[in-house]
Amino acid sequence: MSRLVIVSNRVTVPEPGQPQPPGGLAVAVHAALKSRPGLWFGWSGKVDDGAAVEPQTVQRDNVTYVVTDLSTADFQEYYNGFANRVLWPILHYRVDLAEFNRSDLTGYLRVNGLFADHLSKLLKPDDVIWVHDYHLIPLARELRSRGFDNPIGFYLHIPCPPADLLFTIPKQEQSIGALSHYDLVGFQTENDRNNYGRYLAMTGAHQGRDGTSYALDGRVVRIGAFPVGIETKDYAATAVTAVDSHFTREFKESLQGRKLVVGVDRLDYSKGIVHRVEGYRHFLETAPDWRNRVTYLQVTPKSRSDIPEYNDMSDDVNRLVGSVNGEFGEAAWTPIRYVNRSYPRTALAGIFRVAAAALVTPLRDGMNLVAKEYVASQDGEDPGVLILSQFAGAAAELDTALIVNPHETEGMAQAMRVALEMPLDERQARFKVMFERISRNDIDRWAETFLAKLSETRRSFLIGQLR
Ligand code: G6P
Repeated sequence: MSRLVIVSNRVTVPEPGQPQPPGGLAVAVHAALKSRPGLWFGWSGKVDDGAAVEPQTVQRDNVTYVVTDLSTADFQEYYNGFANRVLWPILHYRVDLAEFNRSDLTGYLRVNGLFADHLSKLLKPDDVIWVHDYHLIPLARELRSRGFDNPIGFYLHIPCPPADLLFTIPKQEQSIGALSHYDLVGFQTENDRNNYGRYLAMTGAHQGRDGTSYALDGRVVRIGAFPVGIETKDYAATAVTAVDSHFTREFKESLQGRKLVVGVDRLDYSKGIVHRVEGYRHFLETAPDWRNRVTYLQVTPKSRSDIPEYNDMSDDVNRLVGSVNGEFGEAAWTPIRYVNRSYPRTALAGIFRVAAAALVTPLRDGMNLVAKEYVASQDGEDPGVLILSQFAGAAAELDTALIVNPHETEGMAQAMRVALEMPLDERQARFKVMFERISRNDIDRWAETFLAKLSETRRSFLIGQLR
């Protein structure tokens, strides 16, 4: 078996009992590396201006983690700048929030070059390279220019909007356009894949007869949809054990018989937390019989707090939660419990299993693995209800959830009532379909399907070149 080399901006070295790493990427990559020998390279999460600090290596089981620090300029221009103030908002359909500086693009390209330099010292000829997410789009071009001929795949964990929006990215050919240097590019949904195919066609690429390959400037890139999954079996088993833990029992007692509605998201404007709290406020207004009988727990670890748009949003949520609690709360009942921290998987699985409903209502999301984790945690005999945004990639698979438009406050409030009052047989029927899907399309299948397609892509290109 070839070694799998994973490259992503954020690398989290696993420590038992630690909070779940932020975002779906880390969850997916950890799971994908479990069953194969691998190396995971990326940023340590630390900023250090020490001259020419060498990457650090940590070995855990069959995975070698190699992490590098970023300088202050790299952190500002590459991470806080181009990746998170241009690519992140535009790929989430929020051109209005994008802030472009030419120096940020220079920093973005520079860090991609630095990553390629570090990797040059680590790579072996038969390694398979799999690059993850929007921070590292130009990496294949950098590696190819350094002479590496390994198979290189890319996976975009976040949405890919329609071509017209991709063209709003300043100097788009240097970032999103550079995806054409990969052998295979994976997207979360067919819709994302089709958006990129259209973009490629508009940049002059020729679509191959197979409908999935595109030729451009003497290169061929294949694109496909590979919806990311979770470790469904493990997650379900964790939830069964977690209900009896001290943490979950104490938490359940604190609810004093009230039903629980839960949301778990990084503090990010794409997650629609403000819209969700507005929906909950409307629910309490229009369903007075539910007041004091329900508690909404919103678990929201802070994220990217050096970026102004994230701080603005944090203030908005604080204000809104305070106002709902002030308006509807009572001496012995807090309508919303809002916590800015993350929890280990064991604690989250227990919370999910106790919750009568989950609110997964992003304004835009590549997939949203919380939706799948909530379903995996349920007791099939008495399952909770998933309220899911039509704009989460997960909605394509989990179509028996209660699907909502997060921009419609009344519809959100109505869905909360429907969820809390849904008869048992309907809850079971909806859950069954979703659980079967996430059991079949789990994380192993995701990684295997992508990697098989990557090696098949390489073989067919090589044969094509020989003809
Ligand atoms: C999303 C992205 C990931 C990112 C994660 C956490 O899930 O797709 O690439 O790692 O958010 O964000 P952060 O900026 O803290 O790495």
